[in-house]
Amino acid sequence: MFKKVHNNLALWYKENGRHDLPWRNIDDAYKIWVSEVMLQQTQVKTVLERFYFPFLETFPTLQDLALASEDEVLKKWEGLGYYTRARNLHKTAKLSKESLPLTVTELISMPGIGQSTAHAIAAFAYKTPVPILDANVKRILYRIFAVTKASDKELWKMAYAFFDEKRPYDFNQAMMDIGSIICISKIPKCQECPFEDTCKGKYDPLLYPQKKIKKARPLRKKNIIIHFYKNKLALQQRQSRFLNGLWGFSEYNQHEDINFTELLGEITHIYSHFKLHARVHLYHSYIDEHQWYSLEEIKELALSTADHKVLQLYLQKISFKV
Ligand code: ADE
Repeated sequence: MFKKVHNNLALWYKENGRHDLPWRNIDDAYKIWVSEVMLQQTQVKTVLERFYFPFLETFPTLQDLALASEDEVLKKWEGLGYYTRARNLHKTAKLSKESLPLTVTELISMPGIGQSTAHAIAAFAYKTPVPILDANVKRILYRIFAVTKASDKELWKMAYAFFDEKRPYDFNQAMMDIGSIICISKIPKCQECPFEDTCKGKYDPLLYPQKKIKKARPLRKKNIIIHFYKNKLALQQRQSRFLNGLWGFSEYNQHEDINFTELLGEITHIYSHFKLHARVHLYHSYIDEHQWYSLEEIKELALSTADHKVLQLYLQKISFKV
């Protein structure tokens, strides 16, 4: 049914595809899995420039990752955000024996591997003829079929209906590339698109999918205190669900009483579900009431980006003093 459009896509991919992405045209399931997990919430450019290679240099194989400590894995993930991804990656490595599972069904049973990642690993590493369905592919499908709203189940049906079983591997990679180069969210380049003849949404692509009304992120106001004692700073490893396992300075709600502190400045940081606005204070402790870390030791700990901003204010303060 889609023979012509599949041929057009194959030609387009040959000419325009991002063939040099390092996780393409390899069949190492471990590396493909790492790339897929990193790419879930992060742009290709960031993953390529800052995270993919250093991570694989430290943990070149599934076994290396399984043998590492969670702290080491988080340290390597530092700055990439959505740290549950790193903790699940580590859990799955520990649960796997020699290699990752070989089928979509078994892959889905592992921590952090959902339908989408399982299909991507199977399609790219094992060349299983199954479609993939990430946010980019979803947008293409909405437009091709001129659908404004669909459940995941319906989207999977559309993905299977549109799939090129003759060239499954190239089809999937090409769909990713169309999604990031042509069928982009705001200003799609329909004139350059190999799907133009077939695409039902081409007359008004921005109608598909229907935009969700985004709720404004709530603002959380905090006080952050850097406790200082004998040239060391107090840090705690978070046990909460949010940023679990990462190290941070003490946070207080802004109505809590915090006397005797020196204001160093303010930081803001945007998370997926809220915006943090914090005043950062320095407090000279007189008693040994925390766990203390020197700057050298802090370099080895995984801190969230917001805590790095806090640390930066402290470093500025001491550099002005010297
Ligand atoms: N995002 C997720 N997987 C990808 C891939 N294989 N190529 C480009 N972007 C991706």
